Amino acid sequence: MPGITVSPITPSRPGLGALIDNVDLENLSDADFEALRHALYTHNVVCVKSQAHLTPKGQAELTRRFDPEAMSYGHGKTIDAKRSILHPDLKTVPHQPEVQVIGNGFVPEYEGLENITLKHPHHRTFHTTVIPEDKDLDFTRFYRWHIDAALYGGLQPPLVTSLLAVKVPKGRTQTLLYDDGSNDTLQVPLGTTAFVSGYTMFDNLSAEQKEFVLTSKVEYAPHPYVWISTAKSRPDGLGMVSEGKEVPVDELPPVEKATDVQIQPMAWQNPVTGRFALQIHPSVVRKIHLRDGTVIDDLAKVREMVHDLQRPGIAPPLVYAHDWEEGDCVLFNNHGVLHSVVGAFDKDEVRLFRQCNLAASRPPLAPEVQA
Ligand SMILES: [Fe+2]
Repeated sequence: MPGITVSPITPSRPGLGALIDNVDLENLSDADFEALRHALYTHNVVCVKSQAHLTPKGQAELTRRFDPEAMSYGHGKTIDAKRSILHPDLKTVPHQPEVQVIGNGFVPEYEGLENITLKHPHHRTFHTTVIPEDKDLDFTRFYRWHIDAALYGGLQPPLVTSLLAVKVPKGRTQTLLYDDGSNDTLQVPLGTTAFVSGYTMFDNLSAEQKEFVLTSKVEYAPHPYVWISTAKSRPDGLGMVSEGKEVPVDELPPVEKATDVQIQPMAWQNPVTGRFALQIHPSVVRKIHLRDGTVIDDLAKVREMVHDLQRPGIAPPLVYAHDWEEGDCVLFNNHGVLHSVVGAFDKDEVRLFRQCNLAASRPPLAPEVQA
């Protein structure tokens, strides 16, 4: 059998998306794994075709191979908190708790889960404005641009997330609206996952902005996904609208240790290429720490600053919208890209995916100036 092959999906933009062929993820040699890891950190989103046979155990082992010392599922037990916005979207595979089932519609039985109803997240539950009902099957939005990360307690952002497409409804495309006053739109396959490169986002900043990003840090809210559960997002999915609707900090679950509140660098370094990605989770950021020790804690201002840095990086030509086929296993560099759920399904359109990521064994690689 010929060896593993790697082909950039868009040759003019090799840093975001590659197809991998001639590899079996259930039986991966050390040499093939090294080639896969190199491809992942070069192209940041890689799709391995025809992996429908990959078991939940195989998926968890593959994901752990990128970070052998990694701990449990990336969100730990924090999604158990009933108020968390992540709670309704995930069902855990009983015999492989690092692996979550996500999707849409009714599934009678899957991997020990019975009679489950999955719900594809819809922007009407999260955005401050919505696309009218009669246009909902033709038009869509980015639901929420994010990094897969608990951003709280001892759980460091997972290095890699794997997504396996088990069942994919096909046939339609939708027009994605940014609805942010820009008139930007994007034609996307139904239920795509959208990715943008944090490296491109960083590279396109001005020299002054780069200096700011390399020397500043962001502080995330305590219990971040409960904190924003009562607030609404901008229509572009890139951060929240500031209306004072967040759960007041004194009504959140208690903060056990001061260090549970995470402060992360704004720029995260790629371990293979050495490039910097602008990696900020825009929905749950709360404060900015400057190099001189000043803390910017005016929430509306913090969000505007972050949006100004990130918005150019989600412009339509910079988005890779993956066109899912059954058996696709997509792996992405969660320290180098932002991603978003997209699309609106009918309730009887059945979609079934498996997701796995693991809280990392190390924090993101910070710029040396911060060391
Ligand atoms: Fe995600």
